[in-house]
Amino acid sequence: MTEVIALETKTEMSIQNTKKILEKYPKDKRYTLAILQDIQRNYDYIPKEAIWEVSNYIESPLSEVYTIATFYKALSLKPKGKYVIKVCNGTACHIRGSDKVLDAIKSSLNIQPGETSEDGLFSIEIVNCVGACALAPVMVINDKYYGNMTKDKVHQVLDEIRRSQNE
Ligand code: FES
Repeated sequence: MTEVIALETKTEMSIQNTKKILEKYPKDKRYTLAILQDIQRNYDYIPKEAIWEVSNYIESPLSEVYTIATFYKALSLKPKGKYVIKVCNGTACHIRGSDKVLDAIKSSLNIQPGETSEDGLFSIEIVNCVGACALAPVMVINDKYYGNMTKDKVHQVLDEIRRSQNE
């Protein structure tokens, strides 16, 4: 029961916030992407109910808004994890084994790039050069850089984060 109430409150909040965002834009289809980007910035993803709100506001079919929301890589319909793991796949990192780092992360979390773990703790993203080539291969978790990554270091870092959640 408590969960249902919490969910309704959250939904109500996201509708209110979305309405505030919408008020900044003219009611015009041309602004669909700009509105969705704004919503993405605000929530770090695009809640389902926000798609409805955008569709009503600009009087555009839901399917059109949905298509735009799913087309652009920078937009996501799913909330990201508390820890977003970015695996660099720039040239230096690729040459020095970023694929092994990614494999270790995927097998530890049992998710693919672009997905979030079931406990909502981790998401994986593949990115281009993060500007720390001397430390290749590199992964970045939220704003923290981890260099010279190996399979063992991946497990160590992820275990530390998991442990810190129980403290
Ligand atoms: S290629 Fe990975 S940090 Fe530059």
